Amino acid sequence: MSLLEQIREKARQKKKKIIVLPEGTEERTVKAAEILVKEQIADPILLGVEDEVTGVAKNLGVDLSKVRIIDPSRAADAESLAEKLYEMRKSKGLTIDEARNLVKNPLYYGSMLVYTDAAHGLVAGAINTTGDVLRPALQTIKTAPGVSVVSGSFIMIVPDCELGDKGMFIFADCAVNPNPTAEQLAEIAYSSAETARSLCGMEPRIGMLSYSTKGSGGKHEDIEKVLKATEIAKQRYPDLILDGEFQADAALVPKVAKSKAPGSDVAGRVNVLIFPDLDAGNIGYKLVQRLAKAEAIGPILQGMAKPVNDLSRGCSVDDIVNVAAMCVVKAQA
Ligand code: ACO
Repeated sequence: MSLLEQIREKARQKKKKIIVLPEGTEERTVKAAEILVKEQIADPILLGVEDEVTGVAKNLGVDLSKVRIIDPSRAADAESLAEKLYEMRKSKGLTIDEARNLVKNPLYYGSMLVYTDAAHGLVAGAINTTGDVLRPALQTIKTAPGVSVVSGSFIMIVPDCELGDKGMFIFADCAVNPNPTAEQLAEIAYSSAETARSLCGMEPRIGMLSYSTKGSGGKHEDIEKVLKATEIAKQRYPDLILDGEFQADAALVPKVAKSKAPGSDVAGRVNVLIFPDLDAGNIGYKLVQRLAKAEAIGPILQGMAKPVNDLSRGCSVDDIVNVAAMCVVKAQA
């Protein structure tokens, strides 16, 4: 069974299954909602004007009889959610009228459903940018206890590869933080370990990546940052199997690790790669996806108090089903 089939199977067995899909008039999302119900992976809520959502479904021949549809601008709970949003954000200058307007936006309404436990997770991004999906969630659902930074990881499955966990890796941060601090990098390592365990059943071995291995690059603030992040992570999360700073080859390849990082028991065995910044992470995952023909599953948003998952705008119906299944699995983790 492939990893994604395993994740769908896990989701079927879970109880917290209410996943809100704010892009309720988007065709792939409507098709995915039908499949989620049919395959008992999730109980989706589609957001949008009811006639428009059902109109799209009718055109597509999709059966939404078992899918809840909520129109945020007419919802019975709109006023109470607006008041909650206002209470939460008034110190940031939000007025009650602005809050009322914001909850009419499906991305804010959906985030508030998750915040108030009326839904267990949110999946969007088929037509909205990562930033647009993230901002309402960051402002309302916020980060998990003990975590200050939300980041985005990818599960990378590289064909015909013996490195990592037989070709399976977690790459992070590939989606959110342009220039993380050393503290944030340490937290990204922690959250990525959690993703590796909960979604991949993987025992994480984490490499903090750089263009230098154990001092080979001399002194530079970029290397210092990764070194500091490694120290912080080791101190704060002593149970993690983690080391750095490593170049990618020293992290992944046992033979290279032996010569470049002979004292490290993590070098050469890494399956969770923590990139020093978003440029490196985003470019890195796309290169591996395109050149090594790897399957790239994500971005998986990690560190959020409750699961919110972003989609790529090029996503397929199947991708939406898979991401919703991940959301269900994460909701119980
Ligand atoms: N973790 C936790 N909280 C955060 C984070 C974070 N990474 N970033 C912002 N916040 C919080 C802020 O503290 C703020 O909270 P507050 O309003 O309660 O004080 C709130 O979120 C909003 O922050 P802003 O700074 O106003 O939001 P901003 O407009 O900077 O947006 C965002 C944040 C959306 C994450 C932005 O950094 C972004 O767009 N990142 C890049 C996304 C991207 O384009 N990725 C690449 C494409 S994805 C791909 O290829 C897979």
